Amino acid sequence: MNKFIPLSEPNIGQKEISYVQKALRSGWVSSLGRYVEKFENDFAKYCGRRYGVSVSNGTMALHLTLMALGISKGDEVIVPNFAFVAVANTVTYTGSKAVPVDIEPDTWNIDPQKIERKITKRTRAIIIVHNYGHPADVDPILKIAKKYNLFVIEDAAEAHGAEYKGKKVGKFGNISCFSFYGNKIITTGEGGMCLTDDENLYKRMMLLRDHGMRKEKKYWHEVIGYNYRLTNLQAALGCAQLEKINEFIKIKRRNAKLYKKLLKNLPWITLPVEKKYAKNIYWMFSILINNDMGYNRDLIIKKLKKANIDSRVFFYPISDLPPYKNKVKDKDLEVSKKIAYRGLNLPSSTKLTSREIKYICQILKNLCQ
Ligand SMILES: Cc1ncc(COP(=O)(O)O)c(C=O)c1O
Repeated sequence: MNKFIPLSEPNIGQKEISYVQKALRSGWVSSLGRYVEKFENDFAKYCGRRYGVSVSNGTMALHLTLMALGISKGDEVIVPNFAFVAVANTVTYTGSKAVPVDIEPDTWNIDPQKIERKITKRTRAIIIVHNYGHPADVDPILKIAKKYNLFVIEDAAEAHGAEYKGKKVGKFGNISCFSFYGNKIITTGEGGMCLTDDENLYKRMMLLRDHGMRKEKKYWHEVIGYNYRLTNLQAALGCAQLEKINEFIKIKRRNAKLYKKLLKNLPWITLPVEKKYAKNIYWMFSILINNDMGYNRDLIIKKLKKANIDSRVFFYPISDLPPYKNKVKDKDLEVSKKIAYRGLNLPSSTKLTSREIKYICQILKNLCQ
């Protein structure tokens, strides 16, 4: 039996250990310390933005963003119907309503053609998610946002370093959000970041992140704030990981190329795309199982497991999840409903070897002969 092949695992080396040790030895173990600011500045620079606000995780990044933009009760926010649930949940935290929009059949990202019909007088923002590492089609969305005077929030939790028309994602939103959870391109264990070019939004996020208190006036709480801070230890890990991000992306793309080559002639599998405008970083190498040809995704997952290969189902459509099911009356969500139940993430770690990829593809081929 081969060694277990995980879906994903962090790629931690000597550099990470050394930076975290330095942070530990400095005594700055909470959210003060030189690594926090360094990580914020370096990550913002990497994405081509002016300001970075680090936070405890990607969910808090979204929540902080929505609060900084003043989204609240009575407002509506457009979200893709296919995305990790934090996107809809954080909208719900603010008392506003998440309005799901269907996705494109090939990129699995929000369909710009279907956004306009969901805009009402209450709509304040559109959240763009770059699912599984492929950028959404940003330009038409920015055009719609401009026409209706809406904020654009990018959720690039799954797409660090992916590019849209030659620019890194996270460059386009009024505020852009990232997660550094253990399975992300770079990790801080738990962690997240908001990026913006707007000084006022930056100041607002800094205020809300730290109990509504400014650095210059300790213990004077101007507004009800939160503790959403990242620690210096986590930031130290982030700084080391950021130095390796281009290498990680190169490996992800190389692995995807091999997967695509080995799986390309299987008619029961749909492979992930890379549109002309995109640089896909293949955060998760993801495929669709063409059920209509008699193959069953859940059975394939079980069979892979028997061969010691980890895999994962796609996110369920937000409109099918219990907290949202009765609130979403919309019938035009067919693409997301079809894709979500056919999708499968295959092992995607940067530590994956080409031998392992060949083994996984061979097992897949054998399963369905
Ligand atoms: C698109 C997206 N947004 C938000 C999050 C939430 O990030 P976190 O798990 O760091 O809270 C995730 C997490 O995987 C995600 O994939």
